[in-house]
Amino acid sequence: MKLPLSSRLLACCQFVHPGDRVADIGCDHGYLGIHLLQTGIASSMIEADINRGPLEAALRNAAKFGVKDKMTFHLSDGLTRIPRDFDCMVCAGMGADTIMSIIHHASDWLKDSKYRLILQCQSKRPELRQWLYDEGFRINRETLAKDGKFVYSIMEVVYDPGHPITPAQTYITPQLLEDNHPLLPEYYERVKSGVELTIFGLKRAGDDRLPVYENILHDLTAMEEQIYGNRS
Ligand SMILES: C[S@@+](CC[C@H](N)C(=O)[O-])C[C@H]1O[C@@H](n2cnc3c(N)ncnc32)[C@H](O)[C@@H]1O
Repeated sequence: MKLPLSSRLLACCQFVHPGDRVADIGCDHGYLGIHLLQTGIASSMIEADINRGPLEAALRNAAKFGVKDKMTFHLSDGLTRIPRDFDCMVCAGMGADTIMSIIHHASDWLKDSKYRLILQCQSKRPELRQWLYDEGFRINRETLAKDGKFVYSIMEVVYDPGHPITPAQTYITPQLLEDNHPLLPEYYERVKSGVELTIFGLKRAGDDRLPVYENILHDLTAMEEQIYGNRS
């Protein structure tokens, strides 16, 4: 029995290398891991969730789809109670604060170039990207996926200190421009509208952070030729 997977989770799977040992942190139903094992992409899965209910659902689903033998199940807040012998970690469907907290609490060993982090963040993406660079991580690749009316960004992140990121690039990264996904114009317009709305609010409030956001908007607008230039 094959599992239908959302475009968002399929996009996360795109960054998993053949044979990877994958840790899905916040696995919930376990669908991502089931798909990665059914398709033979991952060699094994660490399934972890902070809540017992989702973890039990993942266990039931793994048995139903016949992949339980290649999975281990861990009741764990982030990476605190899981084995460290994996190649890549997936953190999907979580807010920026949760993702930052999960990485921060494992940073003494996770800051190692042997690990790849696949992150799909639901909120405050610019803050997360800035924090990752401040902590010495670098976005290696970034792509987009759409489910319903939402466009999601999915990043592959590695520990590789010493790389800068500009404020505008925390909104639209060079890696997203490079990826040049068909959804990029739609994603860009949403991001730009968000910044314009922030500027509108800051102007009304007489907030002194206004120039920072005006510069971000200026630099985002300068990306338009690259975003729209090569499209028919
Ligand atoms: C919205 S669901 C996303 C599930 C799946 N990763 C996806 O993208 O479809 C978030 C899951 O993360 C779990 N979670 C939240 N905080 C966590 C933490 N600190 N450590 C592990 N799991 C966590 C929740 O219990 C929930 O099952």
